[in-house]
Amino acid sequence: MSEEPVVYLTREIPQDGLDLLEEHCEVHVWPDPVEPPHDHLVDRLAELEADALYCNVADTVDEAVLDASPNLRAIGTISVGYDHIDLEAARERGITVGHTPGVLAETTADLGWALLMAGARRIVEAHGDVRDGEWETWGPTVLLGRDVHEATLGIVGLGRIGTEFARRAAGFDMDVLYSHTGVNEAAEADLAEYGIDAEYCELEELLDRAGFVSLHVPLFEDTYHMIGEAELRRMDEEAVLVNTARGEVIDADALVEALEGDWIRHAALDVTDPEPIDPDHPLMDYAPEKLTVTPHIGSASTETRSEMAVMTAENVLAGLRGETPPYSAFE
Ligand code: DGY
Repeated sequence: MSEEPVVYLTREIPQDGLDLLEEHCEVHVWPDPVEPPHDHLVDRLAELEADALYCNVADTVDEAVLDASPNLRAIGTISVGYDHIDLEAARERGITVGHTPGVLAETTADLGWALLMAGARRIVEAHGDVRDGEWETWGPTVLLGRDVHEATLGIVGLGRIGTEFARRAAGFDMDVLYSHTGVNEAAEADLAEYGIDAEYCELEELLDRAGFVSLHVPLFEDTYHMIGEAELRRMDEEAVLVNTARGEVIDADALVEALEGDWIRHAALDVTDPEPIDPDHPLMDYAPEKLTVTPHIGSASTETRSEMAVMTAENVLAGLRGETPPYSAFE
């Protein structure tokens, strides 16, 4: 019988993180690219009498999972978001929970900008036309998009990722508004160094004024469906809405109506509700002209995922030693 603590990983991870865990633990990895079914996860943790769980945003970590193994005392999620984990139940059981804040902010902001540009300049639609042999000639009115430069950008949630997203607006001479998190003097000062005079306002005002709106709030009760029918109706009909936060922040039914009714020009989403979104979902009828979707790849660069894997391993190892993880999800 091994004396090393047993860690169960719900997915393969970048090698650096795995190496670190293997130095100290007996490691078991679910081998499939798709997460283990919930029942299997519970059974496997019980069978292994696992000491730690290394999970991600696609796993539902509820009471059944938390109670599966009598030894479970550390959880690490390879994500900054932890809305998939019943945090209060973990806290009550004395199980540590670590996550990966900060490290993925720039990479996620990069992807957000790719989506914004794709929506503004019709990149996916244009690529499809070329691929399908529909590029006949240059045309003065063909595939006209929206200027990004000198437009007004609205950031909903000026946290770590929102600030990185805003910082990138400097190159486009944009006016930057932000809302939701309250006045963030530190972020404003940070942005001022890049020549950005970020202005705090209420969400309604931001939606009224911004040509580009990008969502960067975590999923909590007060952010669930925070962009619904009323908010979408307020937006400019030429507006592009970008979501790299959580799908549930937008009311998907209302978004279908908004795209159908041309209340906004385009939605560019890296996250959807549900995930994965079915190709037959009503939203998908609007792709690519009014909708761009990527499969939750905000933090998916080789460098960042490697750093996230190591951070998560460090969080797990600290919890196993009875210490507070360096990046604890508990406030
Ligand atoms: C996170 O870290 O929460 C992302 O959504 C997954 O990359």
